[in-house]
Order: sequence, then C-alpha cells, then structure tokens
Amino acid sequence: MASVVETYLHRIQSACTPMDAGTLADYIPQLAAVDPDRFGVSVVVHDGHVYSVGDSTIEFTIQSISKALTYALALRERGFDDVDAQIGVEPSGEAFNEISVDHRTRRPRNPMINAGAITATALLLQRPHDDEGTRDDSGTAVDEAFALILEFYSGCAGRHLTMDDEVYRSEMATGSRNRAIAYMLESFGVFPSDPEAAVDLYVRQCSVTVTSDDLAAIGSTLANGGVNPRTGRRMLDTAVTRRVLSVMTTCGMYDGAGDWVTTVGLPAKSGVGGGILAVLPGQLGIGVYSPRLDEHGNSVRGVEACRHLSDDLGLHMF
Ligand code: DON
Repeated sequence: MASVVETYLHRIQSACTPMDAGTLADYIPQLAAVDPDRFGVSVVVHDGHVYSVGDSTIEFTIQSISKALTYALALRERGFDDVDAQIGVEPSGEAFNEISVDHRTRRPRNPMINAGAITATALLLQRPHDDEGTRDDSGTAVDEAFALILEFYSGCAGRHLTMDDEVYRSEMATGSRNRAIAYMLESFGVFPSDPEAAVDLYVRQCSVTVTSDDLAAIGSTLANGGVNPRTGRRMLDTAVTRRVLSVMTTCGMYDGAGDWVTTVGLPAKSGVGGGILAVLPGQLGIGVYSPRLDEHGNSVRGVEACRHLSDDLGLHMF
C-alpha cells in the first residue's frame, strides 16, 4: 500500500507532468537525445527511508550538480585555506558558463559557476604534499583524481556510480568554452593545474550518471552533516557540509538563485542533464529529474516540483 508520502508525491507528479515548457540542453549533442517527458521525484528522510514516484531509477548525467560535490571534496582533501585562496564564495548572478572572475583577486567568484568548478577539479589534480609546487598533470593523475571523485560521489549516494562515456566524449568534442575559461585563468597565473587536464576531469565528473533516488540520497548525506543516513558512512565533516550548503543557497541556481531562495528557500544545485538536488538541513534530501530546462539551465518541472514540496510541507528555511 502506498504511504501517505508517496500518495502526496503522486499528487505532485500529476500537477507537474502536464507542464511542457522548456527545452532540452543541446549544446552537448548527446543531451538532446534523451526522452524529454521523463519525470522522477525522490525524497530521502533522516532515517534513510526513500520515497519516490515516476522515473526515479532512470539514469541521467549529473552535470553541474557535480560542482557542489567536487567543491566539498576539494575542501575535504585540500582544506579551507587552499581552496579559499583559489575560489571565492560570492554569488555572481551570472550564467553558469560566464567567463567570470573577481576583478580584484582574479579568483573565480564561486564554485558553482564553471570557472570556480574547473578550479576545484584542478585543485584535486594538485598533489597536496608537493612542497616544490611541482605539478603532476599526467593522464594517471586525471585517472586517479577521477577515481577519488567517483568513490566520493558513490559514498554520498550509497551505491556504486559510473560515467556515461558517450556524454563525456560528446562534451569533450564541444567544450571550447570550458577550455577557454581554464586557459583564461591560467593566463592570470591563478590556475592550480594544467588546463587541459582540469577540463578533462571536470567533463568526466559532469558525465557521472545518477537517478533522482541518488540525488535525494546525496542530499540526505548533506542534510545529515556529511554522514550518509542509509550506510552510516561519514563522507564529510560538518564544517565542510555547512560551507557547501551555504554556497548552494546563494549560488546553486545561478542567475535564478534569488527567485529560488525566495520561493523554495532550500540549498540546491541544478544540472543541465535535468536534475535538481535540494536539501532541508537536518531533515531530508530531495532529488528531481525532468530534462526540459528554463532560460537559466534549471529543470522547469524540477523547479515546480520543489516549489510544491516547499509550500505544501513548509520546507522553506525561513
Ligand atoms: O560545463 C558544462 O557545460 C556542463 N557540463 C555542465 C553545465 C551545467 O549543468 C549547468 N547547469 N545548469
């Protein structure tokens, strides 16, 4: 028998399914090949219980939602001082792929836009014990850093995740803008690794596949101070979790962030694959999947589903 929560999620599904506004991301050719009508909503609560409806076990690429996770991993592996020296925490109010830096410090303004996210991946390529500052940009370093990323994302989701090779190759073949961003940062003398290696690692992390159930589980790990409530495994300490949730609150929905915080009021991160991850700190994680996007690159039905959840269940933080 369906639980009260599932019955409620079915109501959200019925309310959102007729919405057909928005378009598929097509600047990565492979993303335009998905079924636009897919729709899944999942919630993982503090005891690890999963409630879901619709296409909640269909895999799609995590895309920019990875930015929040890799930022967390960089903070865990490199510490706050190293990361803060390279990436700011100020909202940019700009599009995700804007070539955007703080004019005074020349640091990317935050880790949720591409400039900051690619810098976070570059930090994972820099060996922490290299006193001479020597860089290791070899293929092996990218493979090793990606293995660490995959292991970390998997631990947060509570299951083994993998990468969609076709999406990876599709974005590598069309990723001039991300290369331009990395080379621009290098030209300022503020980039911590080889730009090509960092972009390769960034595109790999964007191509990791998840389901809305996974996003909700990852959200519940962040909600729970960095401990996955389903496995009991600690993935992050509470200070890192607090920082990531703070930056998600102010920067996670790009130039739509102000509207999102006012109406939904939850830390969140979207991706052009159609996923949204939202967190009610101390309580639960939400994952939504619907591939049609609005002008900011956020899932149209995903935003609407989160609005319903926030309004109906009183989830707004304030
Ligand atoms: O950097 C890119 O172009 C993508 N791989 C990720 C972009 C993305 O998901 C933006 N989010 N809404």
